[in-house]
Amino acid sequence: MTTGAVRPDVLVIRRIPDPAIERIVERCKLDYQDSPDPIPRDELLARVKGTLGVLVQSSERIDEEFLAAGPELRVVSTYGVGYDHIDVALCTTRGVLVGNTPEVLTEATAELTWALILAAARRLGEGERLIRSREPWHVWPLFMLGVGLNGKTLGVVGFGRIGRSVARRAEAFGRRVLYHTRRRAPSEVEEALGAQYRDLDRLLSESDVVTLHVSLGPQTRHWIDERRLASMKPTAVLVNASRGPVVDEAALVEALKEGRILAAGLDVFEQEPEVHPGLLGLENVVLTPHIGSATVETRTAMGMLAAENLIEGVEGRRPPCLVNPEAWEALTPRDTG
Ligand code: DGY
Repeated sequence: MTTGAVRPDVLVIRRIPDPAIERIVERCKLDYQDSPDPIPRDELLARVKGTLGVLVQSSERIDEEFLAAGPELRVVSTYGVGYDHIDVALCTTRGVLVGNTPEVLTEATAELTWALILAAARRLGEGERLIRSREPWHVWPLFMLGVGLNGKTLGVVGFGRIGRSVARRAEAFGRRVLYHTRRRAPSEVEEALGAQYRDLDRLLSESDVVTLHVSLGPQTRHWIDERRLASMKPTAVLVNASRGPVVDEAALVEALKEGRILAAGLDVFEQEPEVHPGLLGLENVVLTPHIGSATVETRTAMGMLAAENLIEGVEGRRPPCLVNPEAWEALTPRDTG
């Protein structure tokens, strides 16, 4: 409830769930792009002028140009856990708080990861296409054989919340779990999840399924390149529900085409929404349009959290999920007395 105070101007750049919008209008003066389509960049830059907060998503670059267009910005609240589309260092320098939506999307993304693992291993996309093509088909002993998952080895690359949640579900498939991450997990976590640490190259060569859950940065861009794909088993499945550029898509196309790995499941792409044309022609890859967190429950929870980050920041309080706490510290110097 606002009590006569001037409501801060904020901009929401895409349609988001109604409860989140209702929450924002309780507190702010809202400019709302109530549409699934993106605002053209020029118009966006014009509309950010004079706003104190923006609620954005991963398709929008928050860079020097954007921040210069909105010199009064105090908060950039992104609708998602990833923030590789935001120049966080520059935001921090300018005293702009950056909020994101971790945790609420962990389980949904882990579920989608398993959907991709199963779909790629058991050729679900190919089977669907066959039936819809109305081509005649009949069951025979060697018809559409996939690979089984029971007792196989799952390699989880990136062992944060989502990677661990994917690992937890592996128990249902009686799988051995290997993981790789920058900082090794505490032994209690390894024990609870039955997971063993490996360096990346060993993980790739030992795993039957490799699933990627790393954030995108200079170190992880094209992490899975031609050499690393070559170190995977020819019977292995690769799944990516993190960020497209973590995988060298052109190298992946070649590996899939030549049968150097068995199959892949991809929810993210290097140049979204473009998809490498080589992938589109392959049967042994399952493609989904970046829907890792796309459940009604999760997208609503993300909206509420993104709204809270926005409101708290523009009203001068610390957003609950703050990516750059240094910016907050700089805004609220400690009492040195
Ligand atoms: C995320 O939360 O980062 C999702 O990938 C949506 O962008």
